[in-house]
Amino acid sequence: MTETFRDPQGGGSLIVAWQAKAKTVLVVGGGTVAAGRVFNALDADANVTVVAPKLCAELQHRVSKAQITWHERAFEDADVDAADMVLTALSDVQESRRIAQLCRHKRIPVNAADINELCDFWFMSTHRDHSVQIAVSTNSRAPRLANRIRRQVAAGLPRGMGLAVEQIGRLRRRIREADPEPASSRRRMAWLAQLCDYWPIEQLAALDSDNIDSLLDAYVRQDDPTAVSLGARAGEHSGGRLVLVGAGVGDPELLTVRAQRALREADLVLADKLIPEPVLRTIACEIYTARKFPGAANEAQDELNRRGLDALARGKTVVRLKQGDPFVYGRGAEEVLFFRQHGHEAEIIPGLSSAVAGPGLCGVPLTHRGVADQVLVLSGADRNGGLPLVPPFLATRTLVVLMAIARLAQVVELLATTGHPPDLPVAIVERAGCADQRTVRGTIATIVDVVERVGHNAPGLIVVGHTVNVLSDAAIQDRYLDSSMLGLHSVE
Ligand SMILES: C[S@@+](CC[C@H](N)C(=O)[O-])C[C@H]1O[C@@H](n2cnc3c(N)ncnc32)[C@H](O)[C@@H]1O
Repeated sequence: MTETFRDPQGGGSLIVAWQAKAKTVLVVGGGTVAAGRVFNALDADANVTVVAPKLCAELQHRVSKAQITWHERAFEDADVDAADMVLTALSDVQESRRIAQLCRHKRIPVNAADINELCDFWFMSTHRDHSVQIAVSTNSRAPRLANRIRRQVAAGLPRGMGLAVEQIGRLRRRIREADPEPASSRRRMAWLAQLCDYWPIEQLAALDSDNIDSLLDAYVRQDDPTAVSLGARAGEHSGGRLVLVGAGVGDPELLTVRAQRALREADLVLADKLIPEPVLRTIACEIYTARKFPGAANEAQDELNRRGLDALARGKTVVRLKQGDPFVYGRGAEEVLFFRQHGHEAEIIPGLSSAVAGPGLCGVPLTHRGVADQVLVLSGADRNGGLPLVPPFLATRTLVVLMAIARLAQVVELLATTGHPPDLPVAIVERAGCADQRTVRGTIATIVDVVERVGHNAPGLIVVGHTVNVLSDAAIQDRYLDSSMLGLHSVE
């Protein structure tokens, strides 16, 4: 039988991982390109010598940290004699060419930045995570595209890939120490291959010293590595799963797909008081709602935290459901930190924030070409209950003020004193995303009276700026918009 072998395609580079440890890399040039080359070489444990009359800030820093040797002068031909590799990064192309040719003559591998035809090798676009290095080459055809390919490849890697490699490396060393015979090499490799091929990366990444000991015991007994039980297997939360979910503004259809899935998988949902009924109705499991009445907010939060910890300790899936987006005036990060201190890392599922989606649902754009190109989101009260700091008026800025309706008069007065003109449009966006959402429009001069007249249905927020009326113009509404759908009914 004739065997068929692959035909080489040709035209590629020989891709190898050069062991630069303790070898001397000479970098000619002191600018930022040279600094990049120096970093690459140091990252591979090379001894780096730089020849340049002057150094950029990064290279000065490296000299001060004794990471590199610096010859403060122009290049001299004898410099290459002690080098295992030469990298030039000079603006003087002629000199760069000359150095590259000198290296060629002496058979020292050389890379001259931006002179492809004189390079023995090129730098690739690389990704590094512990011992994992991924390099992409387009053989200098499209280096920018190489970056994009590298980003895409890196983004597709499971989390913890680098750590997983470290852990497998540890285990491999331990197994070799325990079973050092060359004759065992095939057995060692086959056993580890099973682990590398079949275990989830996340579990490999989370192996701790005890797990490594158990796996070593399993190897010694020659147990099937795919069937090894590590008690609560590494990577699995022995104490349940915690998910911090943004509930969006009120309409269950505006929950993200991921949020809906988390709610379906939950054993317990710890909900904010503000979560609207229609969202709560989509939840099948037990719901505990924080009773955060004024003056008792801390006790309510403690109770919520306690219930969360209890359920997590029983291995349950706990969803902490917060209104809007948890990290926009939602104190979400405080809860992440609290649970982290107790050994539980939260998964984060963002939600539509009322600050952005609220005005949008009510037909109030936050930016509009030629009208506003900035948005500032504020809370109506600072940490101590005082009024917020408001910057001086800027006609092209839209302000969105949350938690401020109860002190609307004071907020408006503050705006007036910071130069916001009396005729500047103001909208109160109420219960956005709920069936009874409403937009109340006025100006700095009139809005307090308008709200007094028509009342207010919480929750609501204030939008201030010229974008407020961009879509409220009757002609535009009639022509393009179904105002009943967009909640554009104005009360004025
Ligand atoms: C404590 S903050 C929480 C904000 C929330 N994390 C978010 O991203 O939407 C509560 C404030 O959000 C605003 N808000 C929340 N839901 C709203 C809604 N459906 N319509 C209008 N404003 C809302 C109100 O200003 C309310 O006082």
